[in-house]
Amino acid sequence: MTAAAQFARIPHPAPTPAQRVQEILAAPGFGRFFTDHMVTIDYTEADGWTNAVVEPYGSLTLDPATMVFHYGQAIFEGLKAYRQPDGQVACFRIDANAARFRRSARRMAMAELPEELFIESVRQLLEVDSAWVPAAGGEESLYLRPFMFATESGLGVKPASSYKYLLLGSPAGAYFPRGVKPVRVWLSTEYVRAAPGGTGEAKVAGNYAASLLAQAEATAKGCDQVVWLDAVERRYVEEMGTNNLFFVYGSGADARLVTPELSGSLLPGITRDSLLTLAADSGYPVTERKISVEDWRAGAESGEITEVFACGTAAVITPVGSVCGPDGEFVIGGGEPGEVTMALRDTLTGIQRGTFADVHQWMRVL
Ligand code: COI
Repeated sequence: MTAAAQFARIPHPAPTPAQRVQEILAAPGFGRFFTDHMVTIDYTEADGWTNAVVEPYGSLTLDPATMVFHYGQAIFEGLKAYRQPDGQVACFRIDANAARFRRSARRMAMAELPEELFIESVRQLLEVDSAWVPAAGGEESLYLRPFMFATESGLGVKPASSYKYLLLGSPAGAYFPRGVKPVRVWLSTEYVRAAPGGTGEAKVAGNYAASLLAQAEATAKGCDQVVWLDAVERRYVEEMGTNNLFFVYGSGADARLVTPELSGSLLPGITRDSLLTLAADSGYPVTERKISVEDWRAGAESGEITEVFACGTAAVITPVGSVCGPDGEFVIGGGEPGEVTMALRDTLTGIQRGTFADVHQWMRVL
């Protein structure tokens, strides 16, 4: 049976009126509104992937002994669909998200959703809720949130034998309320996000739970975001909040980029990977290597590091303006968005919105 033939459809009895959808799309924020439908697919050891349904968005009823509540087998993905100038809807690098979802499942000893079912679930949701994809030309997109959790009931500690996969759609504007305004970051020396051998390179719900206290500390220090250091030496920069980081050395034709190497505890971001390619396309040499906090401070103070930015699906590219930590604060560049940062942002968002040539064939109309 084809992936498409596995899906049943239960249409929404009272979809959101078109005018209300337009009001939401005019100022969607991030993660506040959901489209009329969702996709659910069940997995059992006996039957494999079954009960694929596109159904009205709604609550779930779960046994209190459902294993995800106790032992946390839960993973997710995030990707975006963009309205193209010709009116079609295209997803950015959906194959990469489908592959990473499988890898995350494997790391968490969960069932691996076949990539064609992942992609078909997105196609199905976009087909019924296409009115929720914002108009072409702006910053907005439809953020898609595939996720999966253990559904077996019981308190024995073991990989569950059953799982539920869901897909939600949520119109998205700027992730950070201040848009591309540079953020002030807090170097977390007390807490770490992930350790070697841990789950840092998988997109696991628990990684995000473990990050919240450090983020609260950053906020209490007057910063927007936390910067994670390596767990062993607390010296090397890993990520910022839920984003990867890039450092720009020099300027103009001499600009070159550095991004922390994939240490095993960093999330291999799809935006990170795309920017490695786009930076090289633009003629900027890019190196993946370790970068220490001392190098960051010294480089910023000497002017050698001219720009720093964070990147991720939700936030796209966000400049970093200043860095606070136990040893005080330092500023990057003039604390304003840099030239290289904004040029890469324009290229990436241009490809996503269909106004720049998609030479790597990253956009896919499903
Ligand atoms: C992303 O930007 O890829 C994220 O995962 C952010 C999300 C947790 C809101």
